[in-house]
Amino acid sequence: MRYAMIMAGGAGTRLWPMSRKDQPKQLLKFIQPKEGGPSRSLLEIAAQRLEGIVPPERRFICTSENYRKIIRRDLPNFVDERILGEPVGRDTVNAVGFAAAVFEKLDKDAVFSVLTADHIIEPQDVFRERMDLGYRLVEDDAKRLVTFSIKPTYPATGYGYVERGTPIRGVDGCEKDGKALAFHVARFVEKPDLPRAQAYVQSGAFNWNSGMFVWKASTIMNALRKFKPESHAGMLQIQHAWGTAKQNEVVARVYPTLPKISVDYAIMEPASKDKDFSICTVQMDVNWLDVGSWPSYAETLGADAADNRITGEGPTLQTQAKGNLLINANANHTLAVLGIDDLIVVHTPDATLIMPKSKAEELKALHGMVDDRL
Ligand code: GDD
Ligand code: MG
Repeated sequence: MRYAMIMAGGAGTRLWPMSRKDQPKQLLKFIQPKEGGPSRSLLEIAAQRLEGIVPPERRFICTSENYRKIIRRDLPNFVDERILGEPVGRDTVNAVGFAAAVFEKLDKDAVFSVLTADHIIEPQDVFRERMDLGYRLVEDDAKRLVTFSIKPTYPATGYGYVERGTPIRGVDGCEKDGKALAFHVARFVEKPDLPRAQAYVQSGAFNWNSGMFVWKASTIMNALRKFKPESHAGMLQIQHAWGTAKQNEVVARVYPTLPKISVDYAIMEPASKDKDFSICTVQMDVNWLDVGSWPSYAETLGADAADNRITGEGPTLQTQAKGNLLINANANHTLAVLGIDDLIVVHTPDATLIMPKSKAEELKALHGMVDDRL
């Protein structure tokens, strides 16, 4: 049967000071729907995206144990059994492994999608159609590891790249209006340096990895056994204890021992060179925005005539200012700016950030100083 798991354990540090340890970006209600209505969190949006893909009882979230309470409050549909709580973050290969171990125990033929909690994806119907194709590809051949990919628009170094090989034929929906939608992947390269990213984009043969996948639970367990045996051993213990009185105790004991590495480095790169696995990609022709730093968040907001993007509960006044992102999250405080361009100003009740837009990806440089305030 089909299952889904949303990975929501990231820290969201490039969105400080709104994103904090106890309220990371995926749980912040800071996305304003274009159609109006209350602001929503990225996780609420990701959960909503699963409508029509798998039924609620087969939707899971894997995240830090610390966020369980907030998730239960904001997403009442996710009962405790469907929140896979991690006592410590061990990066995405273990989030994927945890889900594979649990799903395989529930259903030895489980096929599951992995979705991220960082993205805004539109339109929904194209997303749903391509997800369905992803599941079908795996149901057709259990060796397949399917990644959903996006046509690149610039040589990003923060994404993974997949090289599109020959088109896949013979699976329902793999072609639309004579255009191939699914391809064998000749190469998977995680976060290349700039010259390589430039070459990939120029070649026209590469897509960005969206960070979303579909695969069979048992195939992931096999991949772990082969490429990350320490994770595999830990996941077998969790699988064994799952559903028994010992479950939480075993998760708490095993997790800190797991190697910290992403699924892209740990599984996708080596599997792309291994004949036991077959990496494929389904192209997602969607508007896809990774809301990872302040400039990408700014893209979710409408701009005024001078290209300022302004939001927050508190009042913001500006004049002779252009191209700024101005956020005032303190209802009892007025934020006023004059004659500034291309800055990011984020004011919260206990911390204020001011930086040029061009430094947005370097926010980590502050962490040593503000760690205790994160
Ligand atoms: N449960 C859990 N545990 N989730 C995690 C953990 C963890 O330890 N670490 C990260 N996540 C979640 C994040 O919240 C996010 O939803 C997702 O996993 C991806 O993690 P990121 O840390 O944001 O990965 P990335 O952006 O550097 O790279 C990935 O996504 C890119 C697209 O946005 C890769 O898959 C790239 O290849 C891809 O291009
Ligand atoms: Mg990300």
